[in-house]
Amino acid sequence: MAGPVQINIPSIIINGAGASDEAAPQAVRAGLKRVLVVSDPFLVEQGLPARIADQCRQAGIESHVYGGVTPEPTDVNVEEGLDILGKTGCDGVIAVGGGSSIDVGKGIAVMAANDGPLSEYAGYHRIPRPGLPLFAIPTTAGTGSEMTRVTVITDTRRNVKMMMLDAHLLPTAAFVDYTLTLSMPRPLTANVGVDTLTHGIEAYVSRKAGTMTDALALSCVGLVGRHLVQAWKHPGDHEARKGMMEAASLGGMAFANSSVCLVHGMSRPLGAVFHLPHGLSNSVLLPAVTRFSVPAAPDRYAALARKLGWAGEGDDSQTACERLVDGLQKLNDTVQIPGLRDCGITQEALTAALDKMADDALASGSPQNNPRVPTADEIKSLYLEAY
Ligand SMILES: NC(=O)c1ccc[n+]([C@@H]2O[C@H](COP(=O)([O-])OP(=O)(O)OC[C@H]3O[C@@H](n4cnc5c(N)ncnc54)[C@H](O)[C@@H]3O)[C@@H](O)[C@H]2O)c1
Ligand SMILES: [Fe+2]
Repeated sequence: MAGPVQINIPSIIINGAGASDEAAPQAVRAGLKRVLVVSDPFLVEQGLPARIADQCRQAGIESHVYGGVTPEPTDVNVEEGLDILGKTGCDGVIAVGGGSSIDVGKGIAVMAANDGPLSEYAGYHRIPRPGLPLFAIPTTAGTGSEMTRVTVITDTRRNVKMMMLDAHLLPTAAFVDYTLTLSMPRPLTANVGVDTLTHGIEAYVSRKAGTMTDALALSCVGLVGRHLVQAWKHPGDHEARKGMMEAASLGGMAFANSSVCLVHGMSRPLGAVFHLPHGLSNSVLLPAVTRFSVPAAPDRYAALARKLGWAGEGDDSQTACERLVDGLQKLNDTVQIPGLRDCGITQEALTAALDKMADDALASGSPQNNPRVPTADEIKSLYLEAY
């Protein structure tokens, strides 16, 4: 028997239409006096961060906005936000946006209480002190970052996407308001939706999976099976958007307490080198990596195929696994995820980056959680297979 496992999820989760309006009252309850709202330029232009900041002001809390988060965020974003936080004396952070804004919010909240540098905290359980209270309001469905003790920040000196996992990164409260995702355009819905699916799949097949994370992971995958294509086809469908938002949060709870595996291990270097969005870099790898991994855990992958509705109870594991691999490719095609070669990457550039990407993938630790643990050469072949 394996030893006990630690599960971390936010202690306050408010789920449903209008949940984001609860952030200001909860900030009052938490005793916050001055909050920094962290978001990105697009959302600033749309007005959501200002709305949250206004609600805080009306509730008697001073608020400031850092709106400079870039997609696939960097240590520079954390430093910029930290600078404003220091100058304004904020005692809490409200991150509003996709995984990028929430991850930067996490970085700012912990760096307010730790000496750093941030790169010293890459890896597992390395952050010495708890950070400031952090509220997370996701607008994509999504990374699940609102539920996770994980942040992913690019180290601009080494051009490496650093993954940090530590209970001190966990949001104090998550506000899961699917209505904020109604505005997502189709390519974003597709990218982040397949990221969610990848979280559910990897959490379930991981060597670190357990009874509690299995329940979360299977719920996530089932919701994606029911709602992703519908949300992509009909962006205004509330039921589908709600299903995907909840899938994203469940997926976050699952993978952060189990783990991600080879897809995420390989997608981070791909994103760092070629500047692909996180969801897209996972999606292009998911079918090939699943094909590679299935033989090491056929019953687990078969259960996923059934949960997605792509195989029936009567199908044996081998058939169900074949359906899964085919289904993942078909899903990519349906929601128009381009292949790697259509992402502006030449075969020469990919080949030239293979050694670094395989080394960085293995160094992240994620491939070692995969049911089938690859060698560096196998990782390189998988990148080429996905091309
Ligand atoms: N911490 C974690 O647990 C975790 C898990 C998975 C991924 N990630 C990280 O999350 C980041 C990706 O986050 P993401 O995929 O959510 O995208 P994102 O936050 O980078 O946002 C992508 C774009 O979508 C826009 N956008 C956000 N919400 C929108 C909405 N409702 N309507 C229209 N446009 C909207 C943003 O302005 C931005 O331009 C990556 O850096 C990835 O590594 C973190
Ligand atoms: Fe992810």
